[in-house]
Amino acid sequence: MKFRKLIIATGNKGKYSEFADIIGDGFAEEIIFAPEISGLAVEETGRTYAENAMLKARAWADVSGLPCLADDSGLEVLALDGAPGLYSARVIIGADTDRVSWLLGRLEGAADRRARFAASLALCVPGEYTLITEGYCTGNIAHTPAGSNGFGYDSVFVPDGYELTFAQLPSDVKNSISHRTNAFRKLIAAIQ
Ligand code: IMP
Repeated sequence: MKFRKLIIATGNKGKYSEFADIIGDGFAEEIIFAPEISGLAVEETGRTYAENAMLKARAWADVSGLPCLADDSGLEVLALDGAPGLYSARVIIGADTDRVSWLLGRLEGAADRRARFAASLALCVPGEYTLITEGYCTGNIAHTPAGSNGFGYDSVFVPDGYELTFAQLPSDVKNSISHRTNAFRKLIAAIQ
């Protein structure tokens, strides 16, 4: 099945571009960057990624009447008991580089640098259903930032099986193993 129009319910252009690559041509004839149709801002008041993804997908579906895909995601660092997790985008108010500095500061001297990205995806088809899936990508936090692709914590995340950060790897490599991709694969399987 293929949607005619699909809204990607995010205000983050980096995330939107990634979704566009991950989704490809087979899932929707047209994908729409949410801010192009409304100034809606959804407060992320959920206690889990899944709750927040569902809040966003449903709110955008209500406003537009169109099928909407939303995600909520975060970086979970083992030595920090899973922080910054749900608060990955808000742990420090500022730029991505400020949050990366915060993370490296918290991990100074830490030998165990294992971490994973987690994502929940919610697909809301108005009047029909809301589907939720989750995906993960495990790796390690580098000692210094490297690379300029991507967004968020990409410059310090080295996925398992690679020696480069997500920000150094080509986007097609990231998009073949990422938490969002893994969650999207489950979504396709659930729909089918
Ligand atoms: P939200 O899902 O928009 O609430 O934000 C999640 C935050 O987690 C982002 O702003 C990033 O800081 C971080 N994050 C989630 N996925 C990624 C990723 O693929 N690369 C880098 N950072 C990510």
